[in-house]
Amino acid sequence: MGRTIQILSVLLLTWAYAQAQISSNTNSITETTETADSTETTETTEYGPINMVVDQLSNMAVNISDQTSTQLQANIERTLANILDDLEALTANAMAEMSIAIDDTNQVLLGNPKCNAAWNLQDFTLNVTDELRGCTEQLSNMIATYRAEGQQALAKVQSLVQQMAQLPIVCQSQQMGVALAPMGISFDNSNTCFLRGIAVINQGLAEAMHNASMLLVRMRRLAQDEMARSQQCSDALVAQVTEYLRVQRANCS
Ligand SMILES: *[C@@H]1O[C@H](CO)[C@@H](O)[C@H](O)[C@H]1NC(C)=O
Ligand SMILES: *[C@@H]1O[C@H](CO)[C@@H](O)[C@H](O)[C@H]1NC(C)=O
Ligand SMILES: *[C@@H]1O[C@H](CO)[C@@H](O)[C@H](O)[C@H]1NC(C)=O
Repeated sequence: MGRTIQILSVLLLTWAYAQAQISSNTNSITETTETADSTETTETTEYGPINMVVDQLSNMAVNISDQTSTQLQANIERTLANILDDLEALTANAMAEMSIAIDDTNQVLLGNPKCNAAWNLQDFTLNVTDELRGCTEQLSNMIATYRAEGQQALAKVQSLVQQMAQLPIVCQSQQMGVALAPMGISFDNSNTCFLRGIAVINQGLAEAMHNASMLLVRMRRLAQDEMARSQQCSDALVAQVTEYLRVQRANCS
């Protein structure tokens, strides 16, 4: 949101600068026009200074918007990476908690094959891994969903930045269409086109950024809830497995 205000401020400042440039250029334009033989030369001088200012204005807006979109991308990636880290930590902790009991039990049962002839370390470990994966499945799905939604939100912002970059050309071709209109009116048309375009794009950008930040807030909150649920599920599994293993060892001594 702060970025959008910054874009507007830059636009206003640069616009004031552009207006100053336009008035200071008026003399030289008039001079060139007076000496010009063909309408083509008149047009070239007419578009030159305006386009330079508009291009510069657009470049600055694009630069800031680009930074905004880069920050958004970093934010989405960081949020997803944090959730993934938590997910990995949860799985690793649960496995670490169970693996000592699994190893101990394996030693006892292998040393006394009569206790549980069906014991198979690999099968048991696979089974436990599967159940643990079940605990975190929803969280994994959520990460995939949010990765896709985050990319969509980012693409939306990037396409608006793209539109902003193309605006001077779009407005120039519109100006070409009215090239036969008396001088002065062409200026107005180009300026109006650019300002109106920038305002519309800026509004879209603000909305897209708002949507993206809502997505991030939702993602973090749901990830937290889902993480708590996964943790409960995993804790219950660890308790159940260690108890099962304890009973196996107790029955074997
Ligand atoms: C925009 O950024 C590019 C590279 O980051 C730089 O070369 C250019 O001067 C910047 N333009 C404006 C108007 O700030
Ligand atoms: C694997 O898990 C299922 C379901 O919890 C259980 O019924 C089965 O006994 C387990 N198998 C092994 C080898 O632990
Ligand atoms: C923002 O989200 C609303 C509601 O989901 C949607 O209608 C709108 O098109 C989105 N705007 C942008 C610019 O992505």
